[in-house]
Amino acid sequence: MPVSDRINATLRKVPAWPLYIVGPLPGLWVFWLGLTGGLGVEPIKALEHELGQFALKLLVVGLAITPLRRFAGLNLIKFRRAIGLLAFFYIVAHLAVWLFLDVQDGSLIWKDIVKRPYITIGMAAFVLMLPLALTSNNWSIRKLGPKWRQLHKLTYLAVPLGGIHFVMLVKGWQIEPLAYLFVILGLLALRFRFIQRRVAA
Ligand code: HEM
Repeated sequence: MPVSDRINATLRKVPAWPLYIVGPLPGLWVFWLGLTGGLGVEPIKALEHELGQFALKLLVVGLAITPLRRFAGLNLIKFRRAIGLLAFFYIVAHLAVWLFLDVQDGSLIWKDIVKRPYITIGMAAFVLMLPLALTSNNWSIRKLGPKWRQLHKLTYLAVPLGGIHFVMLVKGWQIEPLAYLFVILGLLALRFRFIQRRVAA
């Protein structure tokens, strides 16, 4: 039996629901560190950054699930919804830190969104992810039918925007955000049939 089949057989016995309990814990842990002085001299910035990083990592993992099945035979599909919703949880937490702890002043929020292109892009990614999060339930899948798949293609726009947001907010051309964007674009490229044929060959 191939290794992937053995892993899939084991994964079939693992439920997805514990992810909803374990997934938010790192976020709660950094929040606790922030409250207790464990995040250095700029705890709000550090918290904002940590939550943004968790969100981006989860988005990348979510994008990798289909190519992993296609090219490695690994079936993680049943965890995809939980991973996507956790990513959204971290984005909301990241946004909430920015709104309530970083900017605070209501009159500055709109100014920041309009004036700072990396905030505009981050906000666009968030807005695009809203319908995805709201329809990540069985009722919506049944109700929307084939439209559900179409709607969830918004991921292909929202995730790279999250990556671009990271590239834009750092000074100069730094390796880490560029590496994220490169991986995101690579995972998206694997959705094109001619690239799939080449990889398979
Ligand atoms: C898909 C949505 C988003 C993703 C994946 C994301 C991800 C990230 C990442 C990875 C960082 C940098 C972490 C680091 O430096 O290590 C960051 C920073 C930041 N993000 Fe986001 N973000 C998103 C949406 C937003 C939104 C909606 C806002 C606010 C409207 C926002 C505001 C910020 C701010 C203010 C920073 C810190 C910038 C600084 O260094 O001063 N982000 N984000």
